[in-house]
Amino acid sequence: MTLYDAACKVRENAHAPYSRFKVGAALRTASGAVFTGCNVENVAYPEGTCAEAGAIAAMCAAGEYAIAELCVVADSPAPVPPCGGCRQKIAEFAAADIPVTMATTQGARQTVTLAELLPGAFGAGHMEAP
Ligand code: THU
Repeated sequence: MTLYDAACKVRENAHAPYSRFKVGAALRTASGAVFTGCNVENVAYPEGTCAEAGAIAAMCAAGEYAIAELCVVADSPAPVPPCGGCRQKIAEFAAADIPVTMATTQGARQTVTLAELLPGAFGAGHMEAP
């Protein structure tokens, strides 16, 4: 199954009664394993979580920490980009040059690198003593 197909499949399990905007994410790790996640909203709105965060949590729960590729999909007029917070979450576990595919359920797709999504990213190096 492709990452796109995996993201479309998990998207159907999203819990999005408030926004009615279901999102699915699928990532492949350096080992080749695939992990998926969907958005999980909450009646206390800020407690909701994004699809990408769910996929990352599943990856870590399995003891893996290196994202090689990621795909996010929604029923959107244009390929759906990860939100700002998710870009930072992805950057925690991925090199700047990994491909991130943004997609729609209709089949439109756009692939960019993580660096293109998050230029000038804050990283561990910024916390080193000068
Ligand atoms: N959402 C995601 O799951 N990922 C993103 O990168 C963009 C936004 C979800 C959060 C919320 O449940 C819904 O989409 C509307 O913002």
